[in-house]
Amino acid sequence: MDRINIAGAGIAGLSAAIALAEKGIPSLLISVQPSERAQSVMAEGGINACLDTMGEHDTVEEHFRDTMKGGVFIADEDAVRSLTSHAPEMIDFLERIGVPFNRENGHVIQRNFGGQKKKRTAFARSSTGKIIMSALIDEVRRYEAAGLVRRLCHHNVTGIDIRRTDSGLSCEGLWLCDTYTDRMYYSRGHVIAAWGGMNGLFPGHTTGTAANTGRLTADVFLRGVTLSDLEFIQYHPTTVDIGSKRLLLTEAARGEGGKLFIERDRKPWYFMEELYPESGSLSPRDVVSREMYRVCQRDDCKPPVYLDMRMIDKPTWESKLSDLRSWIIYHLGTDPVKEPVAVSPGIHFFMGGIDVDKRHRTDAVGLYAAGECACQYHGANRLGGNSLLGALWGGRQAAYTAAEETGECENGEPAAVGESEGFDVTAYDAGAAEMCGILVSGLGIVRDEQTMRSALDRLDGFADAHRDDPLHAGAVLGQAMLLSALARRESRGAHSRSDHPQRDDERFGRRTYCRYKDGKIQIQI
Ligand code: FUM
Repeated sequence: MDRINIAGAGIAGLSAAIALAEKGIPSLLISVQPSERAQSVMAEGGINACLDTMGEHDTVEEHFRDTMKGGVFIADEDAVRSLTSHAPEMIDFLERIGVPFNRENGHVIQRNFGGQKKKRTAFARSSTGKIIMSALIDEVRRYEAAGLVRRLCHHNVTGIDIRRTDSGLSCEGLWLCDTYTDRMYYSRGHVIAAWGGMNGLFPGHTTGTAANTGRLTADVFLRGVTLSDLEFIQYHPTTVDIGSKRLLLTEAARGEGGKLFIERDRKPWYFMEELYPESGSLSPRDVVSREMYRVCQRDDCKPPVYLDMRMIDKPTWESKLSDLRSWIIYHLGTDPVKEPVAVSPGIHFFMGGIDVDKRHRTDAVGLYAAGECACQYHGANRLGGNSLLGALWGGRQAAYTAAEETGECENGEPAAVGESEGFDVTAYDAGAAEMCGILVSGLGIVRDEQTMRSALDRLDGFADAHRDDPLHAGAVLGQAMLLSALARRESRGAHSRSDHPQRDDERFGRRTYCRYKDGKIQIQI
C-alpha cells in the first residue's frame, strides 16, 4: 500500500496518522516543529460533543443546529452533520487513549461555551489542547515503533507537487527540507494538508503561533487549488497583548460565570448582559467582539473593556481554571480572583482556507486537507470547542478518504533532490510579517469598502515590489482575503461591514470561492 504524506503534526496531522495506522497504512508525518510545539497545544477551553452528561437533555441535533447557526448557515450541512454525529465517538477515543477529562461522579463533565445553549464542552482543566496532544503523541509513538508512522520533525515542507492534467489537478507528492542539514528531498504519494492557519501573517495581533504563516496554503493556491471563505477571520473577544503575541483568556472563564464590563458614568456597565439578556457575555465570539468594538467607540464609555472573573468560586478556579489563573498571574502580574483584567479582541482562528468537500478532498486529486488550513465546518464564525473536534474528526476523515483513494504501488524513502521546487522558506517566513499592517488595516472587526480598497491598493504595491521573490505568494494570499471580503457586500458572522450592515441571504447566503488562474485571482460567491 502506498505511504501517505501528512504535512503538519498538530491534532489534525496526528489524528490522520493514527487513523491510517489503525488500517495498517503507513504515513510520513512531516513538521517543522515537533508536535509538542504545534499550535494545537495552545487550545485551552475544551472540545464539543453531545455527551449529555449534565442532565440537560442535549442532543446531536442541537449540536448540529448550534454549529450551523453559529456559522450563520453557510457551512456544508452534510459535513456538519458528520462532525457533530461523530463527536461523542471522538471523546470515547480520546478517553481510551488516556485523556484525563475533568470528571464528576464517574462521568465526563461539560461546561458552557459561547453560542451553545447546552453544556457541551468537555475539558481537561484549562489546558485541553496540551493534554489531548500528549495522548495523541503517545499513541503515534506506538505506531511509529510498529513501523507504520515515520516522523520527520524539523523538516520544512517547501512545496506541494500539484500538476495540471487533462482531467484536472493532480497531487503527486511534496518537497521537503531537513532544517538541520538543509538537504532537500522529494516524497511522492498522496498528501494530507494539516499545516494550520495563517496566524503568522498577523504577528502581535493573534493568539496563534507565528510559525503558521499560511505559506503552504499560498503555495497550493498558486498551483490552482481552490480556497474558500477567506474573509471570515475570527477575533476572540478576550485576549491580552503580551508583546509578540496575544495571550488567550479562555472563553471557559465566561463559561464559568465571568462577565465583560466597560466603565460608563464611572460605574461598570455589564453591556453584554444588558444588550443580549439570553446569552450575555457568552454570546458567539463574532457578536461579543463586535459589541466590544462598539462600546469602545461610544462617547459615554471609557475603554478598555474588562473581564470580571471575581465571581468565580474557589473550587471552580482550582479544578477547572487553575492554568488560566497561573498564566494571568505569570504574564500580567495580577490575580483574576481579586482584579478584573483589561481585554480586547485578537485574531484567533481562520474559518476560511483550502476548500474541501465533506470527505476532505480538495480539487486536486490526491490532496486532502484537515484542521485549520481547511475550510469546511465553521461557516462564517466557528463556535468555541468546535476546532479541536474539527481537527480530530477532520484528520480522521481525510485519512479514511486518502486510504480509499490511494494506489497500490510501494513508496520508497524520500528521494534526495538537488534543489527544491518549493518556496525559499526562510525568505517567505521572515517577510510575511511585513504585510501585517496592511492586512490588519483592511480586515478588522468592522470593515468597509474604503478601508478594504485602500488596504488592497497598498497590498497590490507590495505584491508588485515582490514580484520575483517568495513573498509574492503571501501577498497573493492577502489579496485573495481582501478581495473575498470586498466581494461579500453584507454582514455575516465574523465579516461585519459598516457600509452593508444587513445579512443578505439571497445574494450572499453561500460560501466564497477563490481561484488563481492565469496570474489572476477570481472570486465567486
Ligand atoms: O477560548 C478558548 O478556550 C478557545 C477555544 C477554541 O477556540 O475552541
